[in-house]
Amino acid sequence: MTTLAPQTVALQPPAHIAIIMDGNGRWAAGHGLPRVAGHQRGAEAVRRTVRGCVELGVEYLTLYAFSSENWKRPANEVSDLMSLLRLYLRRELRELSSNGVRLHVIGERDRLDDDIKKLIVEAEETTRHNDRLHMTVALNYGGRREITAAVRHIAHEVAAGRLDPEQISEETIEDSLATVGIPDPDMIIRTSGERRLSNFLLWQSAYAEFVFIPTLWPDFGREDLEAAIEEFHRRERRYGGRVG
Ligand code: IPE
Ligand code: IPE
Ligand code: MG
Repeated sequence: MTTLAPQTVALQPPAHIAIIMDGNGRWAAGHGLPRVAGHQRGAEAVRRTVRGCVELGVEYLTLYAFSSENWKRPANEVSDLMSLLRLYLRRELRELSSNGVRLHVIGERDRLDDDIKKLIVEAEETTRHNDRLHMTVALNYGGRREITAAVRHIAHEVAAGRLDPEQISEETIEDSLATVGIPDPDMIIRTSGERRLSNFLLWQSAYAEFVFIPTLWPDFGREDLEAAIEEFHRRERRYGGRVG
């Protein structure tokens, strides 16, 4: 177990970095290995990235680990991914705790195995007082489902007479999303060269800076993280306004 000290870096990282961790399968194929080996190496990349974010002083890290569409994959791959998740939650909890990481899972939990649900609750409980890095793992997550659930919740509030439709604002919707309390991502990184959101943080990404990099997720390292932060600093964020 390593306890991490903050590092002085040239560039201030964005407060919230979100990552679409893609390319495990291609990494495995490129190394003549079964897909599961790519996912295993992907879990190591998660460990490196969390450490890097803690050291660099990132406040929020959101990782897309399993989409609501990933159930379409063959059963053995889904079960390999779930086993890796179990392993990750069991093995990393102590290190996450001691490094001030608060872990939070978004996505629909009902379809997950009971023991995984328990591990998630335990990890969230154990780390709830930490506030150095807020790490959110999107698991069985889909942006459209999240928005649909928010709409359903708001409709119930209206039907029950607790909410006037005229009072529905952007904040009402934000407060009904799984990410309530988490600021929008400043930067979304996607590895593996794909350039799409794949149903990730649809509402929250309205003004995110997108950084698409060719590196396959299992190869993602500290240099990639720092290069993405440098790229972020080259962007000019206008939010519809004008600079100068
Ligand atoms: C990302 O790698 C992991 C998940 C989506 C769970 P992939 O498994 O999608 O890898 P590629 O895209 O097939 O290379
Ligand atoms: C997106 O990757 C989901 C995760 C990284 C967890 P996919 O590999 O599933 O996305 P598509 O199918 O290429 O859009
Ligand atoms: Mg993929």
